[in-house]
Amino acid sequence: MRIDVLTLFPEMFTNVFGSSILKQAQTSGAVSYQVVNFRDYADNKHKKVDDYPYGGGAGMVLRAQPFFDAVDDLVKEGQVKPRVVMLCPQGERYTQKKAEEFSKEQHLILLCGHYEGYDERVREYLVTDEVSIGDYVLTGGELGAMVIADSVTRLLPGVLGNEQSAITDSFSTGFLEHPHYTRPADFRGMKVPDILLSGHHKNIEDWRQKEALRRTWERRPDLLEEKPLSDKELKWIDE
Ligand code: ADE
Repeated sequence: MRIDVLTLFPEMFTNVFGSSILKQAQTSGAVSYQVVNFRDYADNKHKKVDDYPYGGGAGMVLRAQPFFDAVDDLVKEGQVKPRVVMLCPQGERYTQKKAEEFSKEQHLILLCGHYEGYDERVREYLVTDEVSIGDYVLTGGELGAMVIADSVTRLLPGVLGNEQSAITDSFSTGFLEHPHYTRPADFRGMKVPDILLSGHHKNIEDWRQKEALRRTWERRPDLLEEKPLSDKELKWIDE
């Protein structure tokens, strides 16, 4: 998969794309990131990317031209059409479901605005998806683009090993994760639940499922609304 980012602050991505699993994913060829400063595409002498709003008012507006030319340049003839994703607080709320959808694409282009709004023609004619990463306002779309790149990359085939497999993720299973413990069994008097030391695999699996359900019920009951529970799970809730 190819993920291109259009930003005025390319340096923000250096560490994120150059560390840990995202770095490995690039080295293995599962993904290729390209971070482009769209200022380079501005067609005026001073490389200005914004201008005054028609109709007047405070603030500036990001011009359409650098975005259109940059996207034209990134999409060569005959290639699959990319999803062009605009990061903005007005967008659809980003979820694991959207990450799964994006991970099936061959090419994503992520547009990061800063401070000011985009010329509406970018939204209307260039962008395929508008995405917000949450109900708060950031100084720009860069953090959102990193969130998308990270959550999509880890879903690509071969990126996570079996042990970290994305199939058992919360939000993919529909439940929050059960509690985890590692050695020692007694840390400063705080003990690991006996059942996990019992070696009884079936009971351990039941306990984990029950704890996952309990956690989801207590912390995120909204997640259960979309999920039909099995008879066994309904019985656990009543216990
Ligand atoms: N740009 C500013 N705020 C944002 C948000 N919440 N999500 C995505 N992009 C943004």
